[in-house]
Amino acid sequence: MRIGFVGGGTMGEAMVKSLLAKGVAKPVDISVSDISPARRDVLKESYGVQITDDNREATKGADVIVLAVKPQEAGKVLSELRGISQKQMVLSIAAGVTMDSLKQGLGHDYVVRAMPNMPAQIGEGMTVWTATPGIMQKQREMAQAILAAMGEEMYVDSEKYIDMATALSGSGPAYLFLIIEALTDAGVHIGMPRPMAERLIVETMISSARSVKVMGKHPAELKNMVTSPGGTSTEGLLQLESGGLRSLLLKAVIAAYNKASSLGAK
Ligand SMILES: NC(=O)c1ccc[n+]([C@@H]2O[C@H](COP(=O)([O-])OP(=O)(O)OC[C@H]3O[C@@H](n4cnc5c(N)ncnc54)[C@H](OP(=O)(O)O)[C@@H]3O)[C@@H](O)[C@H]2O)c1
Repeated sequence: MRIGFVGGGTMGEAMVKSLLAKGVAKPVDISVSDISPARRDVLKESYGVQITDDNREATKGADVIVLAVKPQEAGKVLSELRGISQKQMVLSIAAGVTMDSLKQGLGHDYVVRAMPNMPAQIGEGMTVWTATPGIMQKQREMAQAILAAMGEEMYVDSEKYIDMATALSGSGPAYLFLIIEALTDAGVHIGMPRPMAERLIVETMISSARSVKVMGKHPAELKNMVTSPGGTSTEGLLQLESGGLRSLLLKAVIAAYNKASSLGAK
C-alpha cells in the first residue's frame, strides 16, 4: 500500500511512526509533503520516508492520501489536490472538516474522515472513523489498517458521531491530563514528593481504566468496591460531588461538542 501524507506535523509523524512500527508500510511506500523544511528534515532523518514540499508530488501514485494539516489549511490543500484519481482514497484527520467539504473541495467521491487522539503518538490512540458509502471494501480495509496502526479504531456509519468523538476521545486526553496534574498537585499539597505523587496517580489512572475494561463491571460498581462505610474514599467523593464534578464534566463535553459542530458548519 502506497501512502501519501499532506502535512507531516505532530499527527502526520505519529501516523508514519506507527505505520512503520506495525509493518503496515515500508519507508519506500510513504511520501510526505510539508511546507516546513524542519519537519521534512525530521521525517527524512528519523524514518527514511520520501519527502517533498510539493503536495501533488506526495500524492502521486498513492493508494491512500492522508490529509494531516490544520483545519484552517484544509480548504487550500483540497483545491490543490483537485483532479486526483477516483481510485485514490483520501483519509482526513482534520478536525471539523466534514465529508461534504472534503468531497466538494476535492471533487472526489471516496473519502474517509477520522478523529484520532493524542495517544496515537505512542501507538495507543483511539480513532473513530467513517467513510463515504461508495467506498470499496479494499479501501475500507486499507483505512482500517492505517488507523489500527495507531491503536484502537472504531468505524461508525454516521458522520454525526465524529463531532461527538472529537469532544469525548479527541479532547479527552486534555481533560485527563488536567486531572492527573491536579491530583499530583494534591499529593504535593499533603506533603508527598512530586515525582512520587505523579507516579502514583498515573499508575492509578491506567489501572482504573483497565479495571473497567477487564472486569466488565459498571464504573459505579467499581467505585462502590473502593468506598467503605465511613471511610476515606467517601470523604473525598463527598467533596467531588458537592463541587459538581459530574455536571462539570458533562458541561465540558457539551461545550467541546458544540465547538466541534460549529467548526464543521463553517
Ligand atoms: N494533535 C492532535 O492531537 C490531533 C488529534 C486529532 C486530530 N488532529 C488533526 O490533525 C491535523 C494535524 O494536526 P497536527 O497537530 O499534526 O498539526 P501540526 O503539527 O501543525 O501539523 C501540520 C503540518 O502541516 C504543515 N502544513 C501547513 N500548511 C501546509 C500546506 N499547505 N501543505 C503542506 N503542509 C502544510 C505544517 O507546517 P507549519 O507548522 O510550518 O505550518 C505542519 O508541519 C489537524 O487537522 C488536527 O485537527 C490532531
